[in-house]
Amino acid sequence: MAETDSLNVLLLGGRGQLGTDLVRTNPGHRLTVHGRSDADVTDAPAFERYVRSASPEVVLNTVAFNKTEQCEDDPLTALAVNTLAPRRLAALCADLNARLVHFSTDFVFDGLKGSPYDESDAPAPANLYGFSKYGGERFVALGSPENLVIRTSGLYGEAGSRAKGGNFVHTVLTRARSGQPLRVVNDIFFSPTWTADLAEKTWSLMEAPTACGIYHLANGGGCTWFEFARAVLETAGLTASVEPLSSSQWPGKMRRLPDTRLASVRWGSLGLAPLRPWRDALSAYLRRVPG
Ligand SMILES: NC(=O)c1ccc[n+]([C@@H]2O[C@H](COP(=O)([O-])OP(=O)(O)OC[C@H]3O[C@@H](n4cnc5c(N)ncnc54)[C@H](OP(=O)(O)O)[C@@H]3O)[C@@H](O)[C@H]2O)c1
Repeated sequence: MAETDSLNVLLLGGRGQLGTDLVRTNPGHRLTVHGRSDADVTDAPAFERYVRSASPEVVLNTVAFNKTEQCEDDPLTALAVNTLAPRRLAALCADLNARLVHFSTDFVFDGLKGSPYDESDAPAPANLYGFSKYGGERFVALGSPENLVIRTSGLYGEAGSRAKGGNFVHTVLTRARSGQPLRVVNDIFFSPTWTADLAEKTWSLMEAPTACGIYHLANGGGCTWFEFARAVLETAGLTASVEPLSSSQWPGKMRRLPDTRLASVRWGSLGLAPLRPWRDALSAYLRRVPG
């Protein structure tokens, strides 16, 4: 990248799972990496001071309260982090003339469509997490037509989710290697996505001159969590057995979303290479991080 193309980018949530891969794949922008200890997004005055002091041309917001079950018990924190903080951030970015790139989720859909959701499908959040993330993405979209909202699904990455303390791939491998039983739901479909692939495509999207609005970015295709667990074991060369469960056998308050696979239709219209299929991404991840 030419020096003149290099932008002043503020990365919020830079020590999270996706944030870590955004730092690693940065193609040469001048990056300020934020962590919660620098400024809590719910502390409005401190957060505003922090953002202003970074003088960003672009803000990437990976911050989220994404313990999905806990959102049901703690709706105020979910709304504060996932809806109201992005609302303030969008207003601040408009004031600073900075473009905002915000991450959202497949959980803005109710999962009842029966085929992958593309960007033209109307959101219909059915649980607190999805509702709070939908509010956030709406405020970001209203902040400026140049802002980007990137919806993604089922992330796993080398750093592991900060909120969830690891990732599903690692959990499956650890349990299989220690001989613990594996019971995984087989009636919920999603699009497993490696954060390294998502991070690379995020930089490309940010640099695409005509990109604006909502994009779905997930590795291609989809599967159930049970199928994903089986693929993790096969790819790692382990023979442990996995018991398929119905989601009705899985405890939890949150309303389950049967099928939230994502299709990246608008991404394709930019003429950029598609994200690879989820099995290829999983193989590449396990070559890099054998577990
Ligand atoms: N994980 C998934 O499967 C998934 C699926 C679809 C969409 N997404 C979306 O993708 C994005 C990235 O997810 P991820 O897996 O990378 O999450 P993650 O690893 O949990 O990272 C989230 C980051 O947000 C920070 N954060 C949380 N509350 C904060 C607050 N009040 N003030 C400041 N920072 C705060 C955390 O900081 P600390 O570490 O210091 O707490 C953490 O670094 C999120 O927008 C999420 O909604 C995730």
